[in-house]
Amino acid sequence: MPLHRLTAITIGVPDVEATAAYYTEFGLTPLGGHAFATSDGGEQFRITRSTQRKLVEIGIGVDDPDDLDRVERQVAALELPSERTGDSLSVVEPIAGFTAVVSIAPRITQDRVEPPLYNGPGRVDRPNGRAPGIEREGSVNPHKLGHVVIGSTDQAATQRFFTDGIGFKISDTVPSLAAFMRCSTDHHNVLVQQAPLNFLHHTSWQVDDVDEIGRGATKMLEGNPERHVWGLGRHHIGSNFFWYLKDPAGNFSEYYSDLDCIVDDALWKPGVWEGAKGLYNWGPPPPPSFLKPDDLAALMTGAHSSE
Ligand SMILES: [Fe+2]
Repeated sequence: MPLHRLTAITIGVPDVEATAAYYTEFGLTPLGGHAFATSDGGEQFRITRSTQRKLVEIGIGVDDPDDLDRVERQVAALELPSERTGDSLSVVEPIAGFTAVVSIAPRITQDRVEPPLYNGPGRVDRPNGRAPGIEREGSVNPHKLGHVVIGSTDQAATQRFFTDGIGFKISDTVPSLAAFMRCSTDHHNVLVQQAPLNFLHHTSWQVDDVDEIGRGATKMLEGNPERHVWGLGRHHIGSNFFWYLKDPAGNFSEYYSDLDCIVDDALWKPGVWEGAKGLYNWGPPPPPSFLKPDDLAALMTGAHSSE
């Protein structure tokens, strides 16, 4: 696959300092200048000022100049202008207005993290010991950026930008919602949902396992219960455990673990899902504000007044 990873994203928010403090607490490593790193992905997150919260830029890594040539031809076929340098190609998505930067980048390599030992019926794999998950004391630090979900006023067009333009593949589809798209072996890296305005729904960050999701979210909620959005649960599509929290600008940030990985396209059978399973397999039901964030009306008013 010529596309192999998400590199980095830039989000725009009104209050950069408060949002930067939130993502520091979330476990990203500040690099200065409102840029942040994950432990395995390097610099993957930047915060810039904008009047309304939004996705400003999304980066996709490819292997070589041939890959850039291909993407250049694909976006040209969509009649979109692009800017090419030696090792990258920039193109503005025409509906939501973010910039996609496709660049030649090293593939992400992750050290193997052994799964913790679990006891089960007829299986005492952890004799005479407590579960590792309850003995952890260190901070929770995401390994990498997993995926980005945005709302677009023209879902089909923005999705086509990613598939036909950049070259994302479709892993699974919910006809009434969207396709789950990947630019790596992760089940999904981008999803675009129909919305009354263009906005950033959430970013998602990989942690070791479900205990790290629980530990991370519990710590974020201490003294800040209003940050809770939805969790703990397990998605049906993509299989990942999840817990969604809310940053000061209103963007959701997700801790996830155990996402499906598609390492051989021929062996993965894309599915079509509807109803609750389009959203989750188990967990509390999603609050209405997950599907329709509380600030959408205010964002729409702001979007009109700043035009
Ligand atoms: Fe997600």
